[in-house]
Amino acid sequence: MDPRQYLAAPVLLAGLFSLAPIPSRAVAPPANFEEALAGTYTLPDPLTMQDGSPVKTAADWTTKRRPELLELFEEHVYGHPPALWGTLQFEVLEVLENALDGKATRKRVRIFLKEHPEWTGIEVLLYLPKTGNKKVPCFVGLNFNGNHAATVEADVPISTNWMRDTQANPPRNKPPQSPDTTRGSEHSRWLPEKLIAAGFGLATAYYGDIEPDYAGGWKVGIRGALSPQGVATEWKANEWGGIGAWAWGLSRILDYLESDPAVDAQKCAVIGHSRLGKTALWAGARDERFSIVLANDSGEGGAALMRRNYGETVAIITGAFPHWFAGRWSSYANRETECPVDQHELVALVAPRPVAVGSAVEDRWADPLGEFLSAKNAGAVYQLFGKKGLESELQPAVGESIGNSIGYHLRAGKHDLTEEDWGQYIKFCARHWPG
Ligand code: GCU
Repeated sequence: MDPRQYLAAPVLLAGLFSLAPIPSRAVAPPANFEEALAGTYTLPDPLTMQDGSPVKTAADWTTKRRPELLELFEEHVYGHPPALWGTLQFEVLEVLENALDGKATRKRVRIFLKEHPEWTGIEVLLYLPKTGNKKVPCFVGLNFNGNHAATVEADVPISTNWMRDTQANPPRNKPPQSPDTTRGSEHSRWLPEKLIAAGFGLATAYYGDIEPDYAGGWKVGIRGALSPQGVATEWKANEWGGIGAWAWGLSRILDYLESDPAVDAQKCAVIGHSRLGKTALWAGARDERFSIVLANDSGEGGAALMRRNYGETVAIITGAFPHWFAGRWSSYANRETECPVDQHELVALVAPRPVAVGSAVEDRWADPLGEFLSAKNAGAVYQLFGKKGLESELQPAVGESIGNSIGYHLRAGKHDLTEEDWGQYIKFCARHWPG
């Protein structure tokens, strides 16, 4: 999909939430790709409380500033998720001991809510290396096209949920495709064989199981199910959007993994690409049980600084995808400096756990330098914990990675999650999970 199709999209929701006198139909200026025009800005200080008092110790961060920032991100960017969802249940649909040429155990598990049968639940595809009784570390991530697309194994059932037509421009919302065209189509982004060979498990699920990705998708997703008004809900400016819903789903997958004796739930890394990279970062920021967080090409609303005017902007993304965020975020279109947070603080919310940000040189839409600067500026929080972030002032050379508890790599090529990215993430996790 060529995202530039959205350049002139109006910010439809901007006028609904009157935080400031802004035009009700602010038009998104075209994306800027000139570094000289990226603008100057002062980032909010993660180590200063909203009342101006300093955050001096790790305890100050953990007990005061982290909760304050989480609340601000919920209120202004991703929305508040509900506190309760009833009874979570797991149904093991399959255990296959000789998957991937006998190298892996494959499980399929359905996660659902007892009190909300109208929500069909999440089907998890889990591959685990054969390690005898040793619990295995796991990557946990949502896929774009169904579990059958993440694998080449012919007997993983085709998802029957709504699918996004990635061939169409603009994308169409359409019923499931015929099996043959989609099986394995996202295999290069998940590479279960490679992960298994490296000693890791993979838990993946289709993001459309949680909520289909279109403006009214919430009506058949978890947001509609959990809202007391159901499909009649009128969302308030600070209530959760699609990214909040998908992130909620990642935490429910982790709930299952915690119950699976074959998985080392202390070593589960949440990972995602693009809109699902934004989702992984938000899930990992909120849910401290994810012991490592990996955000690939996550761009605007992910790792990229919102105050930098380069590539996609708040105006563009909230105009094109208003259903991803809390409605309020669109009110910061063209006035990002008024937003009380910026995305380096989202990266910092992972502290002191390791977090890695991946960029691709040609992925200018996602602002690779903005992703780097965000990772860089999260470092002050890691220092409170005696941990090191990115020590370099400069992006690494193409093909290189840098960092300690905060990692960053820059890959050649386009917007994608590739084998090279996985190589970086495997190296990063192996370094932080010795043994
Ligand atoms: C669009 C959108 C990006 C997003 C991407 C994706 O390009 O503008 O913010 O990351 O879609 O998720 O594929």
